[in-house]
Amino acid sequence: MARAVPASYSRPIRPVLSTDLGLLYDADCFVVLSALKRDSIDCVFADPPFNLGKDYGNGAAKDSLDTQNYLKWCFAWLDECVRVIKPGGSIFVYTLPQWGYHLASQLERSGMLFRHWIAVSMKGTFPRGRKLYPAHYGLLYFTKGVPKTFNHVRLPIPKCRHCGKDIKDYGGHRKYLNPLGLNLTDFWDDTAPARHSKFKSRWHINELKPVIPGRCIEISTEPGDVIVDPFGGGGSTYESAQRLHRYWIGTEIATSGAIEERFDRFFADAVRQRPDALQDVFIDTRPDFSLNVG
Ligand SMILES: C[S@@+](CC[C@H](N)C(=O)[O-])C[C@H]1O[C@@H](n2cnc3c(N)ncnc32)[C@H](O)[C@@H]1O
Repeated sequence: MARAVPASYSRPIRPVLSTDLGLLYDADCFVVLSALKRDSIDCVFADPPFNLGKDYGNGAAKDSLDTQNYLKWCFAWLDECVRVIKPGGSIFVYTLPQWGYHLASQLERSGMLFRHWIAVSMKGTFPRGRKLYPAHYGLLYFTKGVPKTFNHVRLPIPKCRHCGKDIKDYGGHRKYLNPLGLNLTDFWDDTAPARHSKFKSRWHINELKPVIPGRCIEISTEPGDVIVDPFGGGGSTYESAQRLHRYWIGTEIATSGAIEERFDRFFADAVRQRPDALQDVFIDTRPDFSLNVG
């Protein structure tokens, strides 16, 4: 982790991966965020380190700051995200409740509008001392003023695995349900993380199922909009954005190898193209999208 653009960045930073829709940098998120224009991004999805002492590898700074410094660091990248979001654009932050209420206050202080605290079910945890059993992550959803886009996401009506019938009887109103499915609520119980190493791009980071960033993108953007995720990890957000035909900008400080592999696996045809439409969102436009820092 780091506080601001680190002094060690003195080289032009070239994307390590580009597709027809996206750009990935192997840099500190502050470097990439500071290269973006104010009011230029439709949606930010952020799943930062939780300060639980994880080793993200490859020299990434330690994930164990004291509370004050961790929050100071979070507020610094949140402020940068707020700066780059367009009026009506959105931010989603996936975090632990212990940090979520601080981050939500910071977003409100910076003028963002609260939309939802989405509870994302946490599986396979254990009780911790004299505390309740933790069972959810907080997924904060704020917008810069009135949202410019709000799409209703629908889920298939749940069926019994054995008899194939609807699980609920809907009080006799089944025929009035929207045939496209049920409205998404603010409680997501169907998004357990990809835990087994076989299904993860990188075994040592908490990789999300792409459906989590995917839903956020679908709710708050349209095809052709621009998504930023400052904490790449295994690249779930970038995969979702690519599948949903949104432009995306990403960065990962530790190692971007897993994201590159993921794109080689899923989007071989799109890799090594250039998202020329993204020139508009950078302050200092360069044809090859390299960022000049230092
Ligand atoms: C919780 S993981 C993100 C997982 C990701 N959402 C996924 O589903 O694959 C957080 C990531 O942020 C990266 N990271 C930490 N500090 C960073 C920084 N200052 N700039 C960019 N990436 C950073 C870590 O190396 C780690 O891979």
